[in-house]
Amino acid sequence: MRLHAQLGDKLGGDIHIIRPGAVSHDIGSILGGRGGSNGEGHHVTGARGIVPILESIGYPLLDIVQIQYCILVHRGSLDIVRKTPEARYIATADGWDHLCNMEELWCVGQRDLGMSPEDTYKWLLRKLENDRRKIMSEAWEIISPDYERAQQTLERFCTSIEAG
Ligand SMILES: [Fe+2]
Repeated sequence: MRLHAQLGDKLGGDIHIIRPGAVSHDIGSILGGRGGSNGEGHHVTGARGIVPILESIGYPLLDIVQIQYCILVHRGSLDIVRKTPEARYIATADGWDHLCNMEELWCVGQRDLGMSPEDTYKWLLRKLENDRRKIMSEAWEIISPDYERAQQTLERFCTSIEAG
């Protein structure tokens, strides 16, 4: 929502799709675990699982389909063109959120995912690259200072690994 407040209607995204899409974009991780059900990926599990939830609270089918699409394409590891402004907003906001929380992700990698510091560093490097790719160009001016800070944070992690 911070992104929408700063970019406003510049891209013509519908806030009634962006808001529920942003809130629920990772619901697949809750419904099926981090990798989604049967390893299909949390974006696929989430896109399927959100339908009965939104139906039960009376969302119109057309809105559900748009929200479903946003969930399906939100991941930075997917090298795809996001075809709606709402999907671009949500992917961008998600990437921005990662950039602003590198310290927390560093802990998630080791504490929750059980990775070594070296593997956590490599995971975050990949994540940073994926996040950069999925951030829409219109938002880059706003987000790039946080991207640079995230890079610096990763460099500090690397230094601490080397120092043992
Ligand atoms: Fe996700």
